[in-house]
Amino acid sequence: MQSGVIISNTRLQGDYFKVTFYTPEICATAQPGQFVHVKIANMEEHILRRPFSICNVSGSGELEVVYKVVGAGTEVLSKLPEGTLCDLLGPLGKPFQAPAADEVPVLLGGGYGAAAMFMLTEKSAQPGVVLLGARSKNDLLLIDDYKQSGFEVRLATNDGSSGIKGLITELLPPLFADYAGKKLHFYACGPMPMLLALCRILPEKGYPEAEVSLDHLMCCGVGACFACVVKIKADNPDGFRYARTCSEGPVFAAKDVYLGE
Ligand code: FES
Repeated sequence: MQSGVIISNTRLQGDYFKVTFYTPEICATAQPGQFVHVKIANMEEHILRRPFSICNVSGSGELEVVYKVVGAGTEVLSKLPEGTLCDLLGPLGKPFQAPAADEVPVLLGGGYGAAAMFMLTEKSAQPGVVLLGARSKNDLLLIDDYKQSGFEVRLATNDGSSGIKGLITELLPPLFADYAGKKLHFYACGPMPMLLALCRILPEKGYPEAEVSLDHLMCCGVGACFACVVKIKADNPDGFRYARTCSEGPVFAAKDVYLGE
């Protein structure tokens, strides 16, 4: 187990915050798509840890997490001041594979899924494209950070307040046309319906290099409790098996995700 000292904890926009921990040991080995399991300080009555995707790490030991206040745990976290010491487990989980030198990375982030893939911008030999989708412009995150990284940013919102009006998957046909002939490597994180749609669309369209991060409710975070299982295709009579997102994922190949009921 490692510890992390909060060195900043600020509101990004609306209910979204960014907390930065000083935790050099975790930063030394963290890869894109991995997460940390955080025991939130000052929550003795809630002993469960909470998983948070790693947004970015620095060579000087700073680890960034973007989170949304959605309940008691994140509410307490949002109020922790600089200097607070937290227990952290990590880095945990199977990471995304870095794109090959000849591949254009295409990241698809739904809501704060945008944060779970940001480290890929630093693992890519060439800048790529990021497609961000959300309910409204207030839920689109890290647009300027992605632009500064050199990635092209395309947007979709359900209410049309930014980018096209519609689902993030509606950004795909023009992308396929604009990047025809290029070798694309897709990465996605966001709500489950969006990820399942991508698991269907991308292999069908002939893009075998597609990975999805299946964020799921977690308990132990280390493969012991089976609270976090998802269905993965398997060569058995059912056609699927249960895989633990915390230890066998959260990143899976899109072609391996079971799409039946
Ligand atoms: Fe316990 Fe995944 S959270 S096995």
